[in-house]
Amino acid sequence: MNSKKILITGGAGFIGSHVVRLLVTSYPDYEIYNIDALTYAGNLENLIDVEPHSNYHFLKADITDGTAIDQLFQRYKFDSVIHLAAESHVDRSIIDPLSFAKTNVLGTLNLLESFKKHSEVKKGLFYHISTDEVYGSLGATGLFTEHTSYDPNSPYSASKASSDHFVRAYGATYGLPFVISNCSNNYGSFQFPEKLIPLCINNIINSKSLPVYGDGNYTRDWLYVEDHATAIATVFHKGKNGETYNIGGHNEWKNIDLIKLLCSKMDARLGRAAGESEKLITFVKDRPGHDVRYAIDASKIERELGWKPSVTFEEGLSKTVDWYLKNQDWMEKVISGEYQHYYKEQYSSD
Ligand code: NAD
Ligand code: TYD
Repeated sequence: MNSKKILITGGAGFIGSHVVRLLVTSYPDYEIYNIDALTYAGNLENLIDVEPHSNYHFLKADITDGTAIDQLFQRYKFDSVIHLAAESHVDRSIIDPLSFAKTNVLGTLNLLESFKKHSEVKKGLFYHISTDEVYGSLGATGLFTEHTSYDPNSPYSASKASSDHFVRAYGATYGLPFVISNCSNNYGSFQFPEKLIPLCINNIINSKSLPVYGDGNYTRDWLYVEDHATAIATVFHKGKNGETYNIGGHNEWKNIDLIKLLCSKMDARLGRAAGESEKLITFVKDRPGHDVRYAIDASKIERELGWKPSVTFEEGLSKTVDWYLKNQDWMEKVISGEYQHYYKEQYSSD
């Protein structure tokens, strides 16, 4: 797959900024257009080093605004789309499911419609970035494969499942070339501190309690965000039309064990006594509909496209901790506004 004018949606977010950086710097022949509404989760500071590149262009637009999106497609006639823009946090989807349906379902439909209408679709690709959460919850054993039935439990995962279905429907009905990848939990630099790892890093720095939902025995499969970005570039270039690829790190952690590991790393970096940060762990009310375990079988992308993760969890977590410690001004800015209100509402019984 080789298209020159590439639209990346949600490029100012956590994963999107890594994908934009990778494509802009590794593929100077590509013109990369980043469309982002700059919601609370979008931040142009994530892309300061990318901005000077002449093949990078930022367009502020909301994917739920069909007219605005259509005008942009009419004007730029993007060759391919890598679609990451979304409302992405499960806890927020429990508070406000409608905005998840609007952005993740309607927003995806607007992009599909405009792409179908204005682009030379047969020569391009619509790549939808999705999540393993569409598969629902695993018990103690087993892995999600590309053949696992969809069984989403949260409003977030239901909205992502729905958008995956619409992408496939546009492939079947209108012949739109597409690929979908479903990835496990990401961690790394620029992640908004509503998610578990940066939330805990920030709270440890500030000696605030570390809210562990339920008994902490929920399991996630963690992948370093830069490995996800290389997987996305691989699927974009080598993925087969109409296929789905699961992406994961073979790296399962129970939340409580992960938080304890993070505490010990942070104690070492902050010069605190061993065990100091663990004292901040507080078991709080569980998340409703909390999926017990996610774990990915990534053998298809490894076998067929030759991708595998390159960063161990030990290295990735150390790099992540170091990045947040070095970039405390970034953290201060992103938590200064709306986050305070969200945090108070979400953790008020904490
Ligand atoms: P994020 O919340 O950090 O970033 C989302 C970006 O989308 C932000 O820049 C935001 O401004 C933008 N956006 C939101 N609504 C928009 C709208 N209406 N119009 C235009 N832009 C809008 O999310 P993330 O963690 O970077 O996730 C990116 C994608 O990857 C999402 O589709 C998510 O479902 C998927 N994903 C995330 C993970 C993960 O662990 N974070 C794992 C698998 C898949
Ligand atoms: P999160 O980072 O929100 O990702 P997701 O829900 O998409 O997997 O949460 C990761 C895990 O950590 C999940 O099992 C919920 C749990 N969690 C807590 O225990 N406390 C928290 O404050 C947060 C945000 C998450």
